[in-house]
Amino acid sequence: MAILPILVAPDPRLKVTAKPVERVDDEVRRLMDDMLETMYAAPGIGLAAPQLGVARRVLVLDVAKEGQPKAPLRMANPQLTWVSDEDNTYEEGCLSVPEQYADVVRPARIRVRFLDHQNEIRELAADGLLATVIQHEMDHLDGILFIDHLSNLKRNMILRKLSKSRKAPVSVAS
Ligand code: NI
Repeated sequence: MAILPILVAPDPRLKVTAKPVERVDDEVRRLMDDMLETMYAAPGIGLAAPQLGVARRVLVLDVAKEGQPKAPLRMANPQLTWVSDEDNTYEEGCLSVPEQYADVVRPARIRVRFLDHQNEIRELAADGLLATVIQHEMDHLDGILFIDHLSNLKRNMILRKLSKSRKAPVSVAS
């Protein structure tokens, strides 16, 4: 396993539509493991392959609370098969938009179908934080960042802050 560098907005590789994997083979499993190690090290609760510059429809996440056993999920080619009419608002952040947070509204409950790390088709019902993280990571597979759900004004403000913090070496966090 390896910890890989995470791309930061506005990197154009974050805006691509990722391609489905044909099957989850050893290469995809290695990618999933590298993604999990990178996510835990960041630390973060979700990561999508395009954030590492890999344009494949692969994501990993773990929403287990601190002090609880790890509960990693690995998904390839995820598709929503159902979303609730009811919405939920969470303050979201993103490893590719470091240190910026904003409220995003998404369906509160979902069902998602995906290939797991053994290339088996699975379907999962999710609500709460898990539903939000799955939708956030799935957005990355279509080149969408959480800031794309905000008004132009808010999004530009965040992007300006990001480019400023990159120019000032004192504010580099990790
Ligand atoms: Ni993200």
